[in-house]
Amino acid sequence: MEKLVVTGPTPLKGEVVISGAKNAAVALLPATLLIDGVCTIENLPNISDIKISCEILEKLGAKITWNNKNSITIDTTNITTTTAPLDLTSKFRASYYIIGAMLGRKGEIEVGMPGGCKLGARPIDQHIKGFEMLGATVNLDRGTIYAKADKLKGAPVYMDIVSVGATINVMLSAVLAEGTTTIDNAAKEPHIVDVANFLNTMGADIRGAGTDVIKINGVKKLHGNATYSVVPDQIEAGTFMLAAVATRGDLTLKNCITKHLESITAKIVEVGGNVEDYGDSIRVWCDKRPSGANIKTLPYPGFPTDLQPQMGVVLSMANGTSRINESIWDSRFQYTQELNKMGAKITAEGKNAFFEGVEKLHGAPVYSSDLRAGAALVVAGTAAEGVTEIYNLEHIDRGYENIEEKFRKIGAKIERVTE
Ligand code: UD1
Repeated sequence: MEKLVVTGPTPLKGEVVISGAKNAAVALLPATLLIDGVCTIENLPNISDIKISCEILEKLGAKITWNNKNSITIDTTNITTTTAPLDLTSKFRASYYIIGAMLGRKGEIEVGMPGGCKLGARPIDQHIKGFEMLGATVNLDRGTIYAKADKLKGAPVYMDIVSVGATINVMLSAVLAEGTTTIDNAAKEPHIVDVANFLNTMGADIRGAGTDVIKINGVKKLHGNATYSVVPDQIEAGTFMLAAVATRGDLTLKNCITKHLESITAKIVEVGGNVEDYGDSIRVWCDKRPSGANIKTLPYPGFPTDLQPQMGVVLSMANGTSRINESIWDSRFQYTQELNKMGAKITAEGKNAFFEGVEKLHGAPVYSSDLRAGAALVVAGTAAEGVTEIYNLEHIDRGYENIEEKFRKIGAKIERVTE
């Protein structure tokens, strides 16, 4: 078993280069199934979710060449099966994008229910509703999804709730459909815009991504023969911004889009941190104990739920009391029990967590319950006094490229140890 051993406290200082966005990349890879040809994707984060996505595509018949650790060339000319490998698709949430992409490409797919972080109920009813509006039939039987369409036809789709996954998935299924699809009440996250930009680069006709109405005019074919670079990771950037505040450090993040970070910047300034925005890089520093604040997680452009645990670390050490209202997921406060082992005073009740800020955290053995909770524990370990051992690293490795190396470069005392 592997664990991260972090000895703190260390004020993190220096530069971090932000990787490509996991949540964009895990959608771009299935999107290549819509291309009957070859394309190159660069700035891919080197993380386990990407390796599994590539394995799934290869099992479906795609040919993948790694140009370097962050770039692949993928040839989807021959897609040889419509059954996705259940053991692989159950390993992460975004495997649901295979459904939209394969409906578009082959009119048929059999795939297991998606896995991923256990954040509470994660239904896919809005995805299914969208596919059905375009003419597909979708059946679920003992954990397997069977989706089929003789011919997909564009249609108006209204999302009952704002869903990142359903917005992208319906967009994927609509790209090669006959006629026009509109998605109303669409999600607006940066990775939705990135997937639309990728598909448009390959020959699709998608308008309005990044607003709450997306219009997709179906095209006959995507031509491929293009190179695309994945958008910088908003959540990785936010993790390091909050790490700078939690450790009272001074970090400059390179390769980020600061427009995507505005809700985080606003909260950092509110708790007493400092931010300098250079457009494609950002400096964050904090030289005093942060003050308490209230946060509500919301779809973009609101404060992202995927940064809620990292913000929780800052608030656990703030001067005063704070409250976080988690409006997206039912069960995203498991990390608070781990922070309490480190001396925090947090009470989680349903969708709210109440923080009584403590002066210091101290090291302890802790367990990451999911991807972002794991990242929050790395931040907490760096800020805390003494030794923190973090277990269940498979969650962290799903979404952060080389987390310990990036933290070490900015001064953290962190080692990966095999027990
Ligand atoms: C994506 C992100 C995840 C992030 C989340 C919210 C990826 C791979 N994952 O997850 O990191 O935490 O957005 O920003 O991009 N819902 C339904 N029915 C559906 C779909 C969703 O009720 O068919 C609900 C969910 O239970 C949740 C809310 O809608 O309460 C938002 O979920 P959604 O935006 O779909 O999250 P994911 O795409 O799974």
